[in-house]
Amino acid sequence: MKRNKSIFHLFFIFVIMAAFTMFAIIVEARKQHSKKSKPSKHLKGSANIPGPAPAPLPHRGSYPTQSSMFNILSFGAKGDGVSDDSKALLSAWKAACEVPGATVEIPAEFKFLVKPITLQGPCVPHLVLQIDGTLLAPPEAGSWPKSSLFQWLNFKWVHDFTIQGTGTVNGQGFDWWTPFSVYFIQKKSKHIPDMKPTALRFYASYNVTVRDIEIVNSPQCHLKFDNSKRIKVNNITISSPPNSPNTDGIHLQNTQDVEIQHSSVGSGDDCISIQTGCSNIHVHHINCGPGHGISVGGLGKDKSVACVSNIIVEKVSLQNTLAGARIKTWQGGIGSVKNISFSNIQVSNVKYPIIIDQFYCDKHTCKNQTEAVAISGVRYDQIIGSYTVQPIYLACSSNVPCIDVDLINIQLKPSQGYTSFKQAFCWNSYGKSQAPLVPSSIDYCLRGDGGSVERTSRSSHEHVC
Ligand SMILES: *[C@@H]1O[C@H](CO)[C@@H](O)[C@H](O)[C@H]1NC(C)=O
Ligand SMILES: *[C@@H]1O[C@H](CO)[C@@H](O)[C@H](O)[C@H]1NC(C)=O
Ligand SMILES: *[C@@H]1O[C@H](CO)[C@@H](O)[C@H](O)[C@H]1NC(C)=O
Ligand SMILES: *[C@@H]1O[C@H](CO)[C@@H](O)[C@H](O)[C@H]1NC(C)=O
Repeated sequence: MKRNKSIFHLFFIFVIMAAFTMFAIIVEARKQHSKKSKPSKHLKGSANIPGPAPAPLPHRGSYPTQSSMFNILSFGAKGDGVSDDSKALLSAWKAACEVPGATVEIPAEFKFLVKPITLQGPCVPHLVLQIDGTLLAPPEAGSWPKSSLFQWLNFKWVHDFTIQGTGTVNGQGFDWWTPFSVYFIQKKSKHIPDMKPTALRFYASYNVTVRDIEIVNSPQCHLKFDNSKRIKVNNITISSPPNSPNTDGIHLQNTQDVEIQHSSVGSGDDCISIQTGCSNIHVHHINCGPGHGISVGGLGKDKSVACVSNIIVEKVSLQNTLAGARIKTWQGGIGSVKNISFSNIQVSNVKYPIIIDQFYCDKHTCKNQTEAVAISGVRYDQIIGSYTVQPIYLACSSNVPCIDVDLINIQLKPSQGYTSFKQAFCWNSYGKSQAPLVPSSIDYCLRGDGGSVERTSRSSHEHVC
């Protein structure tokens, strides 16, 4: 009997508590409703309520953020570095793409093997790909589908999008770098000559930030932006061995309004490569090496049109690179390169710190041609440090000279331990120079006058841009 009584008491207390809780919820709900003009769509409290949030209710505490986190482990990923987790990543992406302020999470301490995929937008703005773990590309070149040799992770039509995190994107490119595998792939499909995948590629994307992550060992280029606008790259690290061919660090093509800063790039090719269709590019606080340096071009290959303008490269440090600040064009191209500034560049053991090469050629010899991409308004200011071969090499087209090339405060000393150096060389390059200029041969390099005569013949080359 006593037992029944106490059960009844407990039940009674429970009913009262339940009623009280209900009442409290209703009151709170009414308060919330009257405070906000816009009723909340997500009952389980999304984390994305705009404006100053009201004091959180205790019983809601565990829900927010969860609804906007899309951990790929919850989408069936194994994260063992061997199983194929492509589908899980695609599913997480598709789900997150629909949710405002969502984050796709690649958790730390897991390795996810992902085949070539396209992560496509447009998505609801402010999507984040949080890479804290490791993404691995398929290690065997022969196992890549022939139709997907252009890139590994393809971001297409995304906007207001961020990649961030303390993790690594690993292209596992070793197999691609060996001449044998190149031969192997070429034999299999002749119509794809030496095509090798870029690790991360953005296509037709707008307002994208890539920060903090590490990108390593890409089969070819590490991070590429193509037909995109308003790009920020900050605090990333890119590395692959010096003997990995064609592995550009960051590659820009037909892309405008870009800031690349506070990053470190060392690979087998250009640290940063700026191609045709690029303008308003600001590169600063970059550590580059090993590799081929910071390059505009090669432009105008196969008589193509090239247009590059308004580039600032400053506060860059280069170690053991082939070139420092370089502009390279093929003979026979048309278009223009204008308003380019390289300033505050520290070089250490760089073979050719300053290069303009309008005779760029990847074969033994290329045919001489009269057309050339017109180069004007190139400023080299505060290029300081040591070179191992030649301090300055300006080889401009014989028919379309470079004009307004300014050399200001250039101080380049031969590196210790090297013995065969070449003199400064300039051909058909007009502009001003300003001391200090070391070695002094730089001073005789540029042609000071006559630029105005040359200007008139340029318009036919430049008007295409
Ligand atoms: C660009 O995207 C970021 C991140 O999603 C966002 O915070 C910012 O408001 C966007 N900027 C513009 C101009 O849309
Ligand atoms: C840069 O990235 C590293 C590695 O992801 C991170 O630990 C560090 O906090 C970042 N630094 C800044 C200033 O954001
Ligand atoms: C040169 O480029 C810089 C940087 O993009 C820009 O601010 C400046 O206005 C440009 N100058 C001219 C003459 O176009
Ligand atoms: C091309 O032009 C350069 C410079 O004028 C000259 O030295 C070279 O012999 C020419 N090459 C050919 C293949 O005509």
